[in-house]
Amino acid sequence: MTVLTPGARPPRAPRPGPRTYSRPMTSTDSAQKAPAKDPWDLPDVSGLVVGVLGGTGPQGKGLAYRLARAGQKVIIGSRAADRAHAAAEELGNGVEGADNAETARRSDIVIVAVPWEGHGKTLESLRGELAGKLVVDCVNPLGFDKQGAYALKPEEGSAAQQAAALLPDSRVTAAFHHLSAVLLADPEIEEIDTDVMVLGEERADVEIVQALAGRIPGMRGVFSGRLRNAHQVEALVANLISVNRRYKAHAGLRVTDV
Ligand SMILES: NC(=O)c1ccc[n+]([C@@H]2O[C@H](COP(=O)([O-])OP(=O)(O)OC[C@H]3O[C@@H](n4cnc5c(N)ncnc54)[C@H](OP(=O)(O)O)[C@@H]3O)[C@@H](O)[C@H]2O)c1
Repeated sequence: MTVLTPGARPPRAPRPGPRTYSRPMTSTDSAQKAPAKDPWDLPDVSGLVVGVLGGTGPQGKGLAYRLARAGQKVIIGSRAADRAHAAAEELGNGVEGADNAETARRSDIVIVAVPWEGHGKTLESLRGELAGKLVVDCVNPLGFDKQGAYALKPEEGSAAQQAAALLPDSRVTAAFHHLSAVLLADPEIEEIDTDVMVLGEERADVEIVQALAGRIPGMRGVFSGRLRNAHQVEALVANLISVNRRYKAHAGLRVTDV
């Protein structure tokens, strides 16, 4: 399938790896070897419905706005359907609102954008609705004190791992942790200049989320490992908050040389 990541950089030519053959390769060997898949060959996700739990907050609303503006069908969820309807109306671009349960039921991909404090309880209560869905967790468990933001240490390792533990019948991934809700919401900004680190256990699911990130102009989804490495990705937001405070910025991230 075709890459549909506007703003994505062209793929690099693969580097030759070390040769470890114990015997010379024959023509039969080379005929059987499948060509390596281009890691930037991502699926077409334009027909998938995206739901956002906690979609009435700045992060959920910002993501909903950007995805809908890029042509994606988006439903924002709330604990109260009327709050979701009001937020959806504000966003336009065909965004719909519903309560969190209906949002989960009607969506193919469900982004979790609730505060860490409500994360476990929300997911536990939606286990049935989220069964079989591709769940994208963007929650950063953070604490704040006089010295600023700091990363909390969830018992399961990370918010994403808590989601995976609570949702055994869902396909859990993690992404969109490092976005600035301020930039997402600003209609004057055409491109969101950032990479999105995408983590998950199944390559196909990660690629769907990479492709979804790539729907937003300027954004690129980069495979960044399994969920056991989600903690440091979530925690890095504490550093970005320090950067933002010092430089009065809305910092994003780029992964170089890929
Ligand atoms: N803000 C950012 O720039 C940013 C960037 C990257 C990632 N994130 C992550 O995205 C998540 C959402 O961030 P946010 O700033 O949008 O948060 P938020 O405004 O505090 O919360 C988002 C929405 O979640 C619902 N909610 C509030 N408390 C809840 C609870 N106890 N249980 C279930 N739902 C609850 C509320 O919607 P209803 O009252 O309508 O249900 C609220 O509008 C956070 O986990 C954050 O770490 C944020």
